[in-house]
Amino acid sequence: MKNKILITGGAGFIGVNSARRFLKNGWEVHILDNFSRRGTDLNIEKLKNEYSTSKLKIIKADIVKDYSVLCVAVSDVDVVLHLAAQVAVTTSVANPRHDFETNAIGSFNVLEAVRLSDNKPIVLYSSTNKVYGCLEHLPVKEFDKHYQFHDKEIHKYGVHENVNLDYHSPYGCSKGIADQYFIDYNRIYGLKTVVFRQSCIYGPHQFGIEDQGWVAWFTIASMLERGINIYGTGKQVRDLLFVDDLSRLYELAIEKINKTAGKAYNIGGGPENKLSLLQFLDKLMSHMGREIPLAYSDIRSGDQPIFIADTRKAFNEIGWKPEYDFNEGFDAMSEWVKGNRGIFNSFFN
Ligand SMILES: NC(=O)c1ccc[n+]([C@@H]2O[C@H](COP(=O)([O-])OP(=O)(O)OC[C@H]3O[C@@H](n4cnc5c(N)ncnc54)[C@H](O)[C@@H]3O)[C@@H](O)[C@H]2O)c1
Repeated sequence: MKNKILITGGAGFIGVNSARRFLKNGWEVHILDNFSRRGTDLNIEKLKNEYSTSKLKIIKADIVKDYSVLCVAVSDVDVVLHLAAQVAVTTSVANPRHDFETNAIGSFNVLEAVRLSDNKPIVLYSSTNKVYGCLEHLPVKEFDKHYQFHDKEIHKYGVHENVNLDYHSPYGCSKGIADQYFIDYNRIYGLKTVVFRQSCIYGPHQFGIEDQGWVAWFTIASMLERGINIYGTGKQVRDLLFVDDLSRLYELAIEKINKTAGKAYNIGGGPENKLSLLQFLDKLMSHMGREIPLAYSDIRSGDQPIFIADTRKAFNEIGWKPEYDFNEGFDAMSEWVKGNRGIFNSFFN
């Protein structure tokens, strides 16, 4: 393997963290991004200051509109990590066409570019736990500050990959379509595709907003002494995964491509790293040493009461499990938030 990777959406949160790992480990990294997300220019500026331009190439392009650029970009690499997306459920509800074009057609473009290339790079896809819908068939118990799965096995290990897919929300549908296309392009065309159904990821370089990236958003909002809106009871639980654990997984999945090709894996912090919104807010308030004003609104469509990824398949087949515990990961993220206070202030003034 020549060790050249193309990262679509590489200027975003997961992209820039992944780019840093691959660059550190000697890969040549090509980033293709349309820079539509706020903060992406700052992520790239920082990366360019850290790494020589001979190892890092930036392509400003759109996966929907610039198909010919995409074709040239995939023709020159060993691996494509496809992260570019419309990433929020709320904005998918407000503008389902844009969501569909970016996530379904954009991902189809990536797959087609790979299928029609001579080199046929490995292609990894960042799917989402939203492909499992609201999991209504898994009853939950309600506690003071959190929900919990009723079923003992699921409580212990989390949601397994054989749970039925049940796309809910335009975002769930568009990501789910791409998820299935990636698996099918392995079956039909023999492409080396791998799908990661990611739970909640957090870490430095996450320009979290109220619509998406809630761990970062709560941290940024509290640092700026802004109030926080909670949609629903706040008892919703997620298994939080630090972004370095995810980028390590991407690299391992490439190394083990003979085992991982054509497969989907549920990926998150697992049962050891689960927290409800209210439990996280308690931590945040004690970290900040002050109360954070909270307001409550109706639950958002497609919001699961709990999602915890059962990561045993990833462990058994790839040898991966999360290594960061939440406190360690949170310290790294909040240091980054503090260090960029001026930028966040300018965003909101
Ligand atoms: N962050 C999470 O918790 C999480 C959880 C599950 C799945 N995911 C998936 O992981 C991927 C990366 O998410 P992220 O958190 O880094 O989000 P992000 O918004 O930081 O990164 C997405 C990047 O895609 C770029 N982009 C958007 N539309 C594009 C287009 N048409 N052409 C080219 N570039 C485009 C944006 O500018 C941005 O840099 C997404 O596919 C997302 O659905 C993220």
